[in-house]
Amino acid sequence: MLQKIQQTADFIKNKIAGEIPQIAIILGTGLGELVHSIAIEKEISYSDIPNFPVSTVEGHSGKLIFGKLGGKDIIAMQGRFHFYEGYDMKEVTFPIRIFQALGIKYLFVSNAAGGMNSSFEVGDIMLIEDHINMFPEHPLRGKNHKELGVRFPDMSKAYDKDLRVLATGIAKENNIKLQYGVYVGTQGPTFETPAEYNYFKIIGGDAVGMSTVPEVIVANHAGMKVLAFSIITDLGVIGKIVEVTHEDVQIAANEAQPKMAFIMQEVIKKL
Ligand code: HPA
Repeated sequence: MLQKIQQTADFIKNKIAGEIPQIAIILGTGLGELVHSIAIEKEISYSDIPNFPVSTVEGHSGKLIFGKLGGKDIIAMQGRFHFYEGYDMKEVTFPIRIFQALGIKYLFVSNAAGGMNSSFEVGDIMLIEDHINMFPEHPLRGKNHKELGVRFPDMSKAYDKDLRVLATGIAKENNIKLQYGVYVGTQGPTFETPAEYNYFKIIGGDAVGMSTVPEVIVANHAGMKVLAFSIITDLGVIGKIVEVTHEDVQIAANEAQPKMAFIMQEVIKKL
């Protein structure tokens, strides 16, 4: 694995002429439009990157984007790898290992999620304060390479406090409503039954989705600071549950995304 990571990181370093960024962004659902705010310097298709998995999901094209956002050098992943697509956890989190090898310090993530918290509404943005890992496979299972991180990583600060304070301040100053809560990561691809939404609420979740947790675990193992947001695209609140489709999720996410993109960009400016 170490050799593969090195090979891929070397390939990328050779492709980017300028500064190697310290900031990586996963353009998950709700952040697709952020790409238009990036002054793009270089793009590399996942299919051209040695050892990289290839993205398949509708609404997620696959490439790495290098450029400037908020005056800073950044790498953005357009398209991510979901466990439900059939990738194993090492594949899902491989890009995070590449970021680590490149020296990335900050990881910014977005996703779409169903809200269980009864004060949430469709279109809300939730700042993720913590997560519950419900995936059936752990990204750090197997041999631990101490070059990559410790065997038993701490997860008490998975979502960096300083970044959260910064994001909260920016939202307040600009009258952007933010919700706060715990993200439950599940494998999907089914949305939840009413009983499952209720269960995730009872165990302490505010929102549930099918991504983010694996990447955040590996980013923490790698010593990165993480900031992550969910767009609440549907409600798993008893009495408010309606049928949900992928299209509904995309529509709700598109409406909320300018606000989330604004917060991300302002946080990056202040780093
Ligand atoms: N459940 C799981 N994943 C999701 C949901 C949901 O309700 N909404 C968007 N992604």
